[in-house]
Amino acid sequence: MNTIHTQPLYNTFARRNLHFTQGNGVWLISDKGQNYLDFTSGIAVNVLGYTHPKLIEAIKTQAEKLWHISNLFESPEQESLAARLCANSFADKVFFCNSGAEALECAFKTARRYHYTLGQPKRFEIITFEGAFHGRTLATIAASGQKKYLEGFGPKVCGFIQVPFDDEKALRHAINKNTAAILIEPIQGEGGLRTVPYETLKKLRKLCDENQLLLILDEVQTGIGRTGKLFAYEWNDIMPDILTLAKGLGGGFPLGACLATEQAAKAMTPGTHGTTFGGNLLGIAVSNSVLDIILEPDFLNHVQHMGNKLQQGLLSILNTYPDIICAIQGIGLMMGMQCTIPQNEVITALDNEYILSVGAGHNVVRFLPPLIITEEEIYEGLHRIEKAIAYLSQTNKKK
Ligand SMILES: Cc1ncc(COP(=O)(O)O)c(C=O)c1O
Repeated sequence: MNTIHTQPLYNTFARRNLHFTQGNGVWLISDKGQNYLDFTSGIAVNVLGYTHPKLIEAIKTQAEKLWHISNLFESPEQESLAARLCANSFADKVFFCNSGAEALECAFKTARRYHYTLGQPKRFEIITFEGAFHGRTLATIAASGQKKYLEGFGPKVCGFIQVPFDDEKALRHAINKNTAAILIEPIQGEGGLRTVPYETLKKLRKLCDENQLLLILDEVQTGIGRTGKLFAYEWNDIMPDILTLAKGLGGGFPLGACLATEQAAKAMTPGTHGTTFGGNLLGIAVSNSVLDIILEPDFLNHVQHMGNKLQQGLLSILNTYPDIICAIQGIGLMMGMQCTIPQNEVITALDNEYILSVGAGHNVVRFLPPLIITEEEIYEGLHRIEKAIAYLSQTNKKK
């Protein structure tokens, strides 16, 4: 009898025909033995690249002691990582979880419960912005508000109101007696590297203060050094009440966190929230090592410096090939190249030059290299990007 072998995974990802078997620094090696320069970092996850010796040592040491211990018991390990995150941010309290979407769920519950315990149970609406991406759970697709993510999944979770990006009038209009919080990414990652202007974030903070709302920043993608500061909000003169983290926090180990001020987190008392795996000891050990390196005195300067080099190089490619690229946006090592031709054609041309990139909204191709990238590797990347764009420009002219 013939056995029919079907592909056994959910068909939810449009996977590229590439299989990687080994990583090393900023390089990924395919099963065919080809070296690819990785400008994706697993979508902003592998901040210290692949097989970093310090991270390997941290996970090995912890693996030989204890992997998982329930949140039923004390966790000095979680406490010490939380204390470090608080010492380096606005926050006083941390809840550890496993992913970005879970960090957002904790943020929503924290905001709703905050108003509930102040005697305002109807204040549960959270305002979000067009182009946002906050994850793929039912609540986070409602927060993201994008039709393509909501379609076919039944009634949208209530309590999320969306307004256009950077439209103060619409935002003011949306605030009402049921509003609990405003949620925003300082730079829209999936939405196409749109940076919230400095003045807008300041106005958001002011609006929140005037209306007793909580300001939630989603730094799942921008956090942990990606923009050249530990948190992107540090570029602006404001502080949030709640902040979500994941991706880079575990350097490749699944770890998320919701950070909050003492006041915002006050209502999250025993029993109000929980997780089996959140704050897993292996993740905490790796994350402590990630922070050891990112908080070294010169590390974030290095990210800023590399980000500037990447930006300058991309701008120069734009000047040469305005037929293919129309804008460069982003901060630090979170750069986007807006294209005039379909982004998939650009991503394929880049794959063909052995440099990996990732798409984003508004026809943007994203570059998110590991933060440990050297100047030489940035130039190598720019060289490969230029070759791919030159090829596209040439074939475009022939059309
Ligand atoms: C800004 C932002 N928030 C939330 C998420 C969801 O994170 P996760 O995929 O870990 O659930 C993402 C993922 O891309 C993100 O970029």
